[in-house]
Amino acid sequence: MKKYPVWLDCDTGVDDAIALMALHALEEVELIGISAVCGNALLDDTFTNTHRVCGLIDANYPIFRGAEKPLFGEPHVSTLFHGSNGLGDVQLPIPESAVMHDTPAWEALHEAALVHPGELRLIAIGPLTNVAIALTKYPDLASLLHTILIMGGSASVGNVTPAAEFNIYVDPHAAQIVFKSGVPIVMCGLDVTLKAVLTPEDWDELAAIGSKAGRFTRNCLQQPWKMLSQMGFSGVPMHDSCPVLYLVHPELFTAEEAGVYVETHGTITQGKTVTDLYSDKQFDKKNATVVLDVERDRFIAILKDCISRLP
Ligand code: RIB
Ligand code: CA
Repeated sequence: MKKYPVWLDCDTGVDDAIALMALHALEEVELIGISAVCGNALLDDTFTNTHRVCGLIDANYPIFRGAEKPLFGEPHVSTLFHGSNGLGDVQLPIPESAVMHDTPAWEALHEAALVHPGELRLIAIGPLTNVAIALTKYPDLASLLHTILIMGGSASVGNVTPAAEFNIYVDPHAAQIVFKSGVPIVMCGLDVTLKAVLTPEDWDELAAIGSKAGRFTRNCLQQPWKMLSQMGFSGVPMHDSCPVLYLVHPELFTAEEAGVYVETHGTITQGKTVTDLYSDKQFDKKNATVVLDVERDRFIAILKDCISRLP
């Protein structure tokens, strides 16, 4: 019995690809649709990469194009980390069965929410541009969504600047719209995602299975690993798999309710998610569940089990 109807909004990228494979493998999830947004790579790449990953695992989901750039400003791609094509420079074909829908992402998301009123879980693992457009264009959407689970932000560190995490930094105005929307939010920021590290031993184990998904997992991580290994990391953080596994296995995580809002006018602090977790002065309401820690070994075991069950 599928417990959770889910919509995935992503900027497929390397860790998005692994999160998508995990989502597909989780038996508790009914993946209703997927939307692509400009983020790690330009929209043409994030959109076709999403098709490519679905083709790899013989999955057939409706996939929709979203925003080509943030609400304000220009794209800020991360091809140094994700490779020039966004998939760690691993070449995957676009499946012949791929349907290039014309419906824009925000319209498709709204239609899906109308079909699953009050039940649709939106997992957003890229910049929040598509989500902000949908919430703005369709005022009833906020009441139709059960929860928005994001990979983004941080109650502490940044990874693009000392203050800001990539997904929020790329489109802080969109993120502010989401945090102010009134929809229950689960924020999986760098506080937890940097602890959810897949190591070379883990991906070698997956590759040794001999499956397409196992080999792809190892191969697509080599590009980010080149950078991270020189920065003292023990592996590659599975940022985007955190909201995915939080949905089905919240028991693996530690979280606190907090007020969270986004700096949209700063210079040094542009894109910072400001939380009242460690502050005497509190915001007006606790608008987010901020995830702070994870049982890393159990998390990785479940992630590897998901990938090991794919073709
Ligand atoms: O900061 C990490 C986030 O930025 C992840 O979602 C990764 O895919 C990139 O989009
Ligand atoms: Ca992402």
